Amino acid sequence: MRKQDVVEKLLAGRRGSPRSSGDAFASSNIALCKYWGKRDEELNLPVTSSLSISLGRKGTYTQVTPTEGRDRLYINYDELVPDAPAARRVEDFLTLLRGGPDPALLVRTTSNIPMAAGLASSASAFAALVQALNVFFGWALDPRALSILARLGSGSASRSLFPGFVEWHAGGEPDGMDSYAEPLPHRWPSLRIGIFTVSRAAKPIGSRPAMLRTRETSRLYASWPAQAADDLEKVKTAIAAKNFPLLGETAETNALSMHATMISAWPPVLYWLPETVQTMRRIWSLREQGLPVYFTMDAGPNLKLLFEREREQEIRAQFPGLEIVDPWGRGDG
Ligand code: PMV
Repeated sequence: MRKQDVVEKLLAGRRGSPRSSGDAFASSNIALCKYWGKRDEELNLPVTSSLSISLGRKGTYTQVTPTEGRDRLYINYDELVPDAPAARRVEDFLTLLRGGPDPALLVRTTSNIPMAAGLASSASAFAALVQALNVFFGWALDPRALSILARLGSGSASRSLFPGFVEWHAGGEPDGMDSYAEPLPHRWPSLRIGIFTVSRAAKPIGSRPAMLRTRETSRLYASWPAQAADDLEKVKTAIAAKNFPLLGETAETNALSMHATMISAWPPVLYWLPETVQTMRRIWSLREQGLPVYFTMDAGPNLKLLFEREREQEIRAQFPGLEIVDPWGRGDG
């Protein structure tokens, strides 16, 4: 099954007439149980299911309008040159969803998260773009179809369509029609995410090649699917019971296990910088002193701290520059 066939299936009979513009916002998301490894490289079908939390007002806003000639992409008010990798990726995605090069589109995106530093910027970017195109073309697709289309842009984008806790079902069908994300009914308003930025530099290797290399060369990867399945159940139990230590412990172990599979790949994939490791040690030591704080990490050197509202002052005192996100609130705390 090719990407074009999936798009055809979802958009059959919906190629409506474009509006004057379409816009949408999508939150960034942080996985508490990670997606690492594809069973289908073209369709971004995952080996395992995953579960994330969306970051409320941290994310990407995208507006799509028609233009003359070729597609043009602005990120945070700067126009990208047409052969920049991000511009090509977006243009390929537009061509896929439009079913060809027309109509040419002007895509303006603004993000309040660092690009390419393991902060899921591509997730919110593709989720916002799919929603903006849905409005622009008047497709009137349901959330499941939008999640599948966003997945074709970036796997984790399938989860950025929804607020709160979101599960992406791995599915098993070759065409991936059963591989989409859905929000969980639970809310946890006292949960906080702290974004500890070690570096805003572009990562040395993107998640796509890193996942592939891990799958192909790491012997530890064989143990990942079973671990991910167990962790998914534990995270769901923790969320349903609002059991914070279980949530934190599971998310932290899950992230470290994912990184262990990368480190054991060849050539090794190591996203950590010295300050990443220093911060992990600080968090472990704070926990030993009785402060309930845990971390998770994606394909980058930055850490995302997990804690509860009642500990916010103590956490701020320990990590002065920390950007604190209230996933169900107004954004920056
Ligand atoms: O969606 P991608 O290709 O950017 O992959 C994201 C992978 C991780 O962020 C490391 C894990 C996850 O589940 O988001």
